[in-house]
Amino acid sequence: MKKVYRGNIVFIKKMGELTSIKNGYLVVENGVIVSVDKVLSREYENLEIVDFGNKLIIPGFVDIHLHAPQINNLGLGADLELLDWLEKYTFPEEAKYRDLNYTEKSYSTLINKLWENGTTSSIIFGSIFKDSNILLSKMISRSGLKAYVGKVNMDKNSPDYYIEETEQSLIDTEDYINEISKLKNIRPIITPRFVPSCSKKLMYGLGELAKKYDLKIQSHLSENIGEVEWVKELHPDCENYIDVYEKYNLLRKDKVVMAHCVWSNKEEIKKLKEYNITVAHAPVSNGNLASGIAPINEFKENRVNIGLCSDLSGGHELFLGKVIKEAETFGKLKWINDKNKYNYLTTLDYFYFATKGSGKFFGNVGSLEENYDADFLVIDDSDLSDLNDRSLDERLKRFIYLGNGKNIIARYVNGIKIEKPF
Ligand code: GUN
Ligand code: FE
Repeated sequence: MKKVYRGNIVFIKKMGELTSIKNGYLVVENGVIVSVDKVLSREYENLEIVDFGNKLIIPGFVDIHLHAPQINNLGLGADLELLDWLEKYTFPEEAKYRDLNYTEKSYSTLINKLWENGTTSSIIFGSIFKDSNILLSKMISRSGLKAYVGKVNMDKNSPDYYIEETEQSLIDTEDYINEISKLKNIRPIITPRFVPSCSKKLMYGLGELAKKYDLKIQSHLSENIGEVEWVKELHPDCENYIDVYEKYNLLRKDKVVMAHCVWSNKEEIKKLKEYNITVAHAPVSNGNLASGIAPINEFKENRVNIGLCSDLSGGHELFLGKVIKEAETFGKLKWINDKNKYNYLTTLDYFYFATKGSGKFFGNVGSLEENYDADFLVIDDSDLSDLNDRSLDERLKRFIYLGNGKNIIARYVNGIKIEKPF
């Protein structure tokens, strides 16, 4: 099945280089982009054309790190730092997902919000409950959106009401992997919560499962100073936080995403690069929980792959346009603090992180190049226009700064139009 979409096509192939095609044509065959061009070549002339007129066509946003069972906590807990926030707000809320009725209602809201905000792909932390995670995976699959969904593991330093036995945690994880293996658009991902909540035995076991099923892995790294110190106390034999994950075989090359990395030092950054780990940059969360500002410039200089995330509900903002704007502001504040030692990143750099930077983790996702999945948004920015004729570059920036989900009039995943899920 081939189809042609016409509109103002904007995407970033390579950081620093915006491709913008006014009145261009996107040709999609079996869910994949086969041509993107200013003119429609002869061979496609007789195909049906969906004409979006003066609207923008951009890649769908890829939220590379969020916690599904924190959806009801948006906007809460910003008076606390990470470890107190987990105890007071997060664990009590996540524990409610033992109940499948609560799960279904809450996840309907979550998936609708992802849809509304143009997030076509995401990498998700679920709860510790197997059945609740299976339900989440089925619901996302049904919606047509794409996701990696992980069953969270935690067998120590966690409250009595939200903790697992090591063996059971591993059994449930394996069952979960098998149960969702055939769901469309959904992939499992190994998800140790973070070092403090995982025993050595659990980490080893999860590393084995990752190997057995050739799975990717997600976790948290060097988010908060108190957390980093705690990890050092728990694992005095490891020099840096990342060494713990390495020691327990949880750093699979090209297959790991680590959220935050706010306090990663030079050696840790070297390892991020060595294992080609994707950093999930979470500026809104890092501000809310007073965690700090991640050294994005150093990641970039060391050619570490970077993606952008909401970190729902550490971050309260699901529209990645807003997250891009916050990331840019935080980056500039850090640049001032760092005495202007480098060039700070700007809007389009963070737009790249929110699309292709994050999307790489899925394969050919997050760009509108040939051979990429046809995951795109159609943006009506007419309410953001002014009296001047604006370039596509300016219109994209305005959408990011001034727009929101309401400007998104259509979402496509693998070339299929996705309607409001619930
Ligand atoms: N570290 C361990 N768990 C969490 C969580 O739920 N959110 C954030 N931001 N960091 C964490
Ligand atoms: Fe997180």
